This record gives sequence, structure tokens and C-alpha cells, in this order.
Amino acid sequence: MHEFNYRGDTLCCENVPLPDIIKEHPTPFYLYSHKTLVDHFNKIKAAFKELNPLICFSMKSNSNLNVCKALVAEGAGLDIVSGGELYKALKAGCPADRLVYASVGKTESEIEYAIRKNIFAFNVESVPELIMIDSVARRLARQPRVALRLNPDVKADTHDYITTGTKEKKFGIDFKTAEDIFDNTNKYSNVSIKGIHAHIGSQITNTEPFAVAIRKILDFIEKSNIVIEWLNIGGGFGIDYGVEKARTAEDFAAKIIPLLSDKKFKLVLEPGRFIAGAAGILVCKVLYVKATRSGKKFAIVDAGMNDLIRPSLYNAHHEILSVVKLRSKPEKYDIVGPICESGDFLALDREFPGIVAGGYLAVMSAGAYGFVMSSNYNSRPRSSELMVINGGVNVVRAAETYRDLIRGEKILKEFK
Ligand code: LLP
Repeated sequence: MHEFNYRGDTLCCENVPLPDIIKEHPTPFYLYSHKTLVDHFNKIKAAFKELNPLICFSMKSNSNLNVCKALVAEGAGLDIVSGGELYKALKAGCPADRLVYASVGKTESEIEYAIRKNIFAFNVESVPELIMIDSVARRLARQPRVALRLNPDVKADTHDYITTGTKEKKFGIDFKTAEDIFDNTNKYSNVSIKGIHAHIGSQITNTEPFAVAIRKILDFIEKSNIVIEWLNIGGGFGIDYGVEKARTAEDFAAKIIPLLSDKKFKLVLEPGRFIAGAAGILVCKVLYVKATRSGKKFAIVDAGMNDLIRPSLYNAHHEILSVVKLRSKPEKYDIVGPICESGDFLALDREFPGIVAGGYLAVMSAGAYGFVMSSNYNSRPRSSELMVINGGVNVVRAAETYRDLIRGEKILKEFK
């Protein structure tokens, strides 16, 4: 459920008609519904209530300060993946003791920054990283909390690029190595290894892989006689992009809770897409409709792969709606952007009732991994981000300008 619905023939966000927003704000833009965002966070909170987990929104899915602030205000923590995300998380007002930090490549200075800020925990992805955290901690005379990120070797039934929990992937630590670490915690006396983490992938629409991974981890904990204070099972709850069957938060909870309800340790979750995905759309304008002699029709819009890369990168399906309902006979279109690559498309061979130039389209479920993955490719300024909250439309990030495109560049004296 989300708050982007037709009233009559007009698409609205929380009852604000999109044509009104378009009059004030040039396309392309991302538009977020505050209500949808918070509702989805609360769906997870309610479904997992029995275990009272710490829910750390994975801010790599959407790191807009207002998006993070809205969730932090509801009690969320944040899952971060870089020094930049730590900086933004603190700017969003997230208490440091609600921050968890994963990444296979944390640098020494990022580690120092996070230790100084006293985050809740590092999710450590390798022995060399653990040694690095231990040595930075010794230098700073601190003892940061650490969870070992396990690689449980479980296939997550999702796109290969976003499968993370199988043994050939770069993420996490295998069970044997983890056991060695737990047997030799004295070697890492400057860190407190009290948690276990796992994240097996993203956009997982089946509940079973979570259960398989958790069972393997519980087995490991029992066999190696480890006492932990928290188990972080990562993110990955999949959403319905219009082609797959959506699972509800209750579906995931029903599978996971029975495995953990008698355990003493705390549960941590890191959902990103489930919270932000349906809460955002990308609105664009149809610039031209081009019919070729071969019979193909292209709707050329003013948003491209630099704005939303998911279709190009993962062949991802996003539902596309017309801002004002179209009534003519459906035809097949490739909905493409202005970028100079054939891989620049938002949809291929999509049935659509007669698209017309000058009309507006909404790319649905673009709230997660949308703006955050956008770029300046083809020297296109990144779009604005807007948020509807309590019936008001707010710019939560201004569109970039041409000046922004050259920020930081310096003309060499040879070319002056
Ligand atoms: N925790 C960790 C350690 C992660 O690496 C991720 C996502 C999450 C949590 C959140 O996963 P979620 O609940 O959002 O599935 N760009 C891709 C998705 C990449 C996911 C990376 N890690 C996409 O557009 O589908």
C-alpha cells in the first residue's frame, strides 16, 4: 500500500494532484510520500513487535536527510556503509548508539571516525579489517562493539549482483574463520565482539532463505558455544515492483520470529527497500514520441539512466503510470531517456495507452536505490527531491545547476 493513487484521472500523492506539483517544480524529480515512508517502517515494527528489534534503516537505499530524519523520529536507527553515510546519519540526528556500520572496505580514517562517534557496532567483514579496527581502537584507547558478519552460504533467489550471502561473494566471514575468531578473542582485546551479523541479499521475495540463514547461524552459535548480545539479520525484504508477488512484513516475521523468540539476544534488522521503495516515485516528462519505420515506438522522456539506473543495471521492472490517465488504444513503447547509450531505458516493450509528447509519467517504487544511485553522466545535473508531508509539498533537495557540474574542477594554468 502506498499513497500514490488516482483521484479520477489524476495521479495524486497523499491527495495532492501531481499536475499541481509539476506546475511548481520542473521535471525530472523524485517525489516522496512521508506517510508511505513512515507506514512501512511501522509495518515492520508492528510485525516484529514481539522481539522489539532495533530497526536500522539502510540509508544506502535513500540517504536524503529528511527521509532519515522522518524515520529516526519514529525510533529507527540507521545502517551505514561509509564515512559519508556516518556524517549524514549524524546530520539527520540519529543517536550514535543506533548506528551499525557494514562494508568490506572501511578505511582507517572511517574506522577512527566511527569509533570516536561511539556507534552501536561495526559489522566486520574480514580478519584484516578486525585487526585494523583493533589497532585503531588501541591507539584511541577505546573498545568498540563489533559483530562478525557471517557469510552463511545461502542463495537468496534474487539478481546475482545483489546476492551477498553465498561463499563466492566478497561479503562476510565463513563459519570456520568466525569460530577461530571467537576462540581467540584475546588476540583482539581492544574490541568487544558481542554480535553476529548476516545480510544475504536484497529484493528477496521469498521468506525461506531468511529461515535457512538464521538456522545455520543458530546452529553455529550452539555448536561453538558462543554467547552473543545481538543478532543482526540484515535487510533484504523484497517488495512488489508490479511483477513479483509481494510479501508482507507479517510474512517475513512469521517465518523469522519462531526461530528467535526463545533467544536471549537482541534482534537487529536493516531494511532499506521495504521502507523506502514504495514511498517514492520519479516523475518525468515525455519530450518526444518517435515512431520508426521498423514499427518500433519510443517515448523519449527527460529522465535517464543517470536518474534511475535500476532498469539498465539489473533489468529491473518498475511500473510506469501516466500522471493523467490515458484512454487511447494500448501500444508497445520503449520508454527511454536522453543519454547516449542504448542501455538507457526505463522500460522496454511496455504496453501503454497512446503516450503523447508533453505528457508526464511516474516511475513507481523508485524511493529506494533511486536518487542515491543517480549520477551526472552526460553532464546532467541531478534532479530535485520533493516530499509531501501533511498535505504540503517540500523541496528536500534542490535540483543541481550547471554550476554544480563544474564544482571542484580547476582550469590548469596551461589552459588559461
Ligand atoms: N544491510 C546491508 C549490509 C546491505 O548491504 C543492504 C543492501 C541492506 C542492509 C539493505 O537491503 P534492502 O533491505 O534494501 O534490500 N542497488 C540495488 C540494491 C543493493 C543493495 C545493497 N545492500 C538495487 O537497486 O536493487
